[in-house]
Amino acid sequence: MTASVASVSRSRDEGADYSDFYHEVITGLERSPKRIPPKYFYDEAGSRLFELICEQPEYYPTRVETGMLARYADEIAGFIGDGCCLVEPGSGSCSKVRLLLDAMRPSHYIPMDISGAHLHEAAGRVANDFPWLDVRAVCADITRPVELPGIAEGMQRVVFYPGSSIGNYEPGEAVEFLSRLAKMAGHGGSLLIGVDLEKDSSVLDSAYNDANGVTADFNLNLLHRINRELDGNIDVDRFRHHAFYNEDEGRIEMHLVSECTQTLRIDGHSYEFAKGESIHTENSYKYSIAGFRALAEQAGFRSEAIWLDDEALFSLHYLSVVS
Ligand SMILES: C[S@@+](CC[C@H](N)C(=O)[O-])C[C@H]1O[C@@H](n2cnc3c(N)ncnc32)[C@H](O)[C@@H]1O
Repeated sequence: MTASVASVSRSRDEGADYSDFYHEVITGLERSPKRIPPKYFYDEAGSRLFELICEQPEYYPTRVETGMLARYADEIAGFIGDGCCLVEPGSGSCSKVRLLLDAMRPSHYIPMDISGAHLHEAAGRVANDFPWLDVRAVCADITRPVELPGIAEGMQRVVFYPGSSIGNYEPGEAVEFLSRLAKMAGHGGSLLIGVDLEKDSSVLDSAYNDANGVTADFNLNLLHRINRELDGNIDVDRFRHHAFYNEDEGRIEMHLVSECTQTLRIDGHSYEFAKGESIHTENSYKYSIAGFRALAEQAGFRSEAIWLDDEALFSLHYLSVVS
């Protein structure tokens, strides 16, 4: 039997449309230092590359978080009760949620992602494998206001936000974003969130510089995407991936560094690069347990439970919305 997936798309097949991408690349390259938001990594190729990153031995976050979800699924489900509406912003391959579904038994699942085709494929596979679950995929940019399908109204909502994607926001923005998640969960709702922890910088540096060069390909794919979609003339070989832990800021930074002096042209606009100048493409903040809990409290959550792996590399927080 093929279960059906009702879908609500903001534009043809993308949560962020052409004009968003165009505008943010053009304005981002005019800034000093140059920067492009990480949400634009995720075209079809970028989404596939991210899945490959998750399989790299150095990239511990997926392996560790997945192990924790499998291990603690029953305990997590104990906080929730059957028949909720599970909402997952930035759901990607929807693989982590599979570890919760049998224990949690939600009646509805709403995966949301900016990468349209990838989302619909992944949501379709979940609908097939869990025929008792009502799956509604929403293609949207979650950094903007998003409307949930009407069916979610009046239901107990649990927001699931794994992958430590919260680390991509500056701490102030993270509070704002968490407040939006609190609103999404609503009265009586809750949030299950995965948060990567502060640790030895050598572990972090190698996680974002895997030996197979997959994270490098993922970062460089942004330049290929600009060429493909925005009529860019970028010689991608003249840039290199650079990722490092910035101790002062408590974050991994990813950059695309120009190997030489060069001029990029994108749809008639020109951008000069000095040798060594970079485009800052991502931050991934690492938190202490107390530091993250303080952010969540500022955003209107109360901490109900925290789970850690044996090496304290990663944390899972279950938070309820304070009404
Ligand atoms: C780091 S991956 C995490 C995927 C999955 N949640 C996990 O834990 O493995 C980030 C996911 O969020 C999506 N994403 C990134 N920025 C987004 C945005 N602004 N709106 C919606 N989805 C976004 C990406 O397409 C990708 O699937």
